[in-house]
Amino acid sequence: METVALAKASGGGGGNLVLILDYGSQYTHLITRRIRHLSVLSLCISGTSSLSCIAELKPRVVILSGGPHSVHTDGAPSFPDGFLRYAEENGVYVLGICYGMQLIVQKLGGVVTVGEKQEYGKMEISVEEEECGLYGPEALGGTQTVWMSHGDEVVKLPEGFTVAARSLQGTVAAIENHSKRFYGLQYHPEVTHSPQGMVTLRHFLFDVCGVTADWEMQDVLEEEIKVIKEMVGPDEHVICALSGGVDSTVAATLVHKAIGDRLHCVFVDNGLLRYKERERVMSTFQSDLHLPVTCVDASDRFLSKLKGVKDPECKRKIIGREFISIFDDFAQELEKELGKRPTFLVQGTLYPDVIESCPPPGSGRTHSHTIKSHHNVGGLPKDMKLKLIEPLKLLFKDEVRKLGSILNVPESFLKRHPFPGPGLAVRVLGDVTEGNALEILRQVDEIFIQSIKDAGLYDSIWQAFAVFLPVQSVGVQGDQRTHSHVVVLRAITSEDGMTADWYYFDHKFLVDVVRKICNNVRGVNRVCQDITSKPPATVEWE
Ligand code: XMP
Repeated sequence: METVALAKASGGGGGNLVLILDYGSQYTHLITRRIRHLSVLSLCISGTSSLSCIAELKPRVVILSGGPHSVHTDGAPSFPDGFLRYAEENGVYVLGICYGMQLIVQKLGGVVTVGEKQEYGKMEISVEEEECGLYGPEALGGTQTVWMSHGDEVVKLPEGFTVAARSLQGTVAAIENHSKRFYGLQYHPEVTHSPQGMVTLRHFLFDVCGVTADWEMQDVLEEEIKVIKEMVGPDEHVICALSGGVDSTVAATLVHKAIGDRLHCVFVDNGLLRYKERERVMSTFQSDLHLPVTCVDASDRFLSKLKGVKDPECKRKIIGREFISIFDDFAQELEKELGKRPTFLVQGTLYPDVIESCPPPGSGRTHSHTIKSHHNVGGLPKDMKLKLIEPLKLLFKDEVRKLGSILNVPESFLKRHPFPGPGLAVRVLGDVTEGNALEILRQVDEIFIQSIKDAGLYDSIWQAFAVFLPVQSVGVQGDQRTHSHVVVLRAITSEDGMTADWYYFDHKFLVDVVRKICNNVRGVNRVCQDITSKPPATVEWE
């Protein structure tokens, strides 16, 4: 199984792995990340994985996640038969959270009922007075606020279990069977609404389970380099398409460290880049990172194909196809030059894209992948038969930034806002080649972004950009009536781009930006701000 290889490559699995069996909770990624922040490797696999999958990973701790299911529904997902016996026999600690706790109770002969009180949101719990394993000594006998979200409730514990905490309404909030190493929390310790939750989790992992904090990004880097060196033969070559984004840049820098100039990168100027983007990223690639990179100026190729095309999906497809064709040309040129085909391709795939989790109830699926296919620039020519190197496949975005920092990727580069593969084509609505829309957009965008940087706001905003609308409005500039373009400013806050809120600028900031834009960009006489969250809107306009 892929995750096993990943765990080995991570350098931290050795006896300290915290494995999460996912039952579809919205917090599963969060708990994985929180545990990694404690320098402990945590991986997440589907809650219905086979026993051999679980055993092969040799976890020290298994956490059964929460989820939207009820243990009473037919086909409710569960761990495989024999799992609890395996855990007991192999000294594995098991912690069930919410649904996970109810699974443990039900499977071991306790009783879970549909709760009368349905506890959702913040609530007070009291931790039992006598010594209990789950909580540190300071917590004993005290109360704490926690985040509950469940309908079902444990009313009878399985044999050998004790109650470790109760809600003030009397429902069971935490349970344990210390001698068998089985534990359960009815609430979510990983969310900030449970202020002492991480204290409990930390105590559980380090003091109860004896996990060591030994997962460091430096070790991940060294392990990855070792794996890449073993994977790529001494006379094999590797190619990589750089987008100018953080992920492909960090991935390429890592591979370059492992195999040197047998890595061949290509950066495509598709004519849809931001103001001075090509010069800026090429300078980082070459001067700061010393990456072997070829810059292909394909502006004419892209723009001629996009002429007259207004439909957003058509625009995306054309751009995707063109990328593939340019990449193909690049590989063929390289083959001529080297006298042999490159055998590997580097991709900056991240962990959230590969996590296989439990599908939501009623979806009829057995697994859900979170791959955002439209977010991968272009895809791959199918007949190239390249083997993949995906060195970031185990990491979350913040961890990629940490790795990039160790690899000396400039901090300003690592903090760049995301930029979509199809570039400004999804920000000039309609035909991108009409008039000088692209040029106007570049200027407006640059003023907006520079103003955000000058105001010290860049790092508090997840993504900011301008949009060009193919409409004109009437204005008055210098005593003259104008009929010019409308542009839109969009700035959002977000965790991962899947949902987003609009960013609130103060009045003065907006006044200054609008003045700068209208005074400096010919052809614009009206500036609007997009104050729509996602959903219902998407981040990009097309
Ligand atoms: P949407 O518009 O889907 O955007 O709400 C969510 C995030 O994804 C980025 N995005 C893309 N990134 N190729 C990419 O590499 C794409 O085709 C693409 N479309 C959207 C968008 O900028 C935002 O960060």
